[in-house]
Amino acid sequence: PKVLVLNGVNLGRLGAREPNVYGNLSHAELADQLVATGLTLGLNVQVRQTDDEAELVRWLHEAADGELPVVLNPAAWSHYSIAIRDAAAQRTADLVEVHLSNIHAREEFRHHSVISAVASGVIAGLGPLGYELALRFVAARRPG
Ligand code: DQA
Repeated sequence: PKVLVLNGVNLGRLGAREPNVYGNLSHAELADQLVATGLTLGLNVQVRQTDDEAELVRWLHEAADGELPVVLNPAAWSHYSIAIRDAAAQRTADLVEVHLSNIHAREEFRHHSVISAVASGVIAGLGPLGYELALRFVAARRPG
């Protein structure tokens, strides 16, 4: 079974971007790690990143049409994009919202995510392990 891991705006800068907050792993390294984890779980994991909101909307439509589970880090869009929320709300399979950092322990404007109400669940503050745990959830939820 296929799973999309979708990373939003600025997450392509992982490793270089505020490593004290987001860690030293690059996006490519994170992607490799998640693909490897997927193999151990019997999941075909595709990792994508975009700084283009419209592109993320299209990927969420693709997931809805294909009934594909999604692990989504909407990054800054979490806090204000009704367009991403409305696209995520169309989901036909599980959607897990992941944040590397603990958004609740940071600035006030990060405390609320407009995505969370339409997600199956939310993981925040566990770093890259949060994505791994989200994949475990998706694997456990697959029928058969
Ligand atoms: C983030 C948290 C957001 O507040 C921030 O805008 C990001 C990354 C995280 O993974 O911790 O870009 O989603």
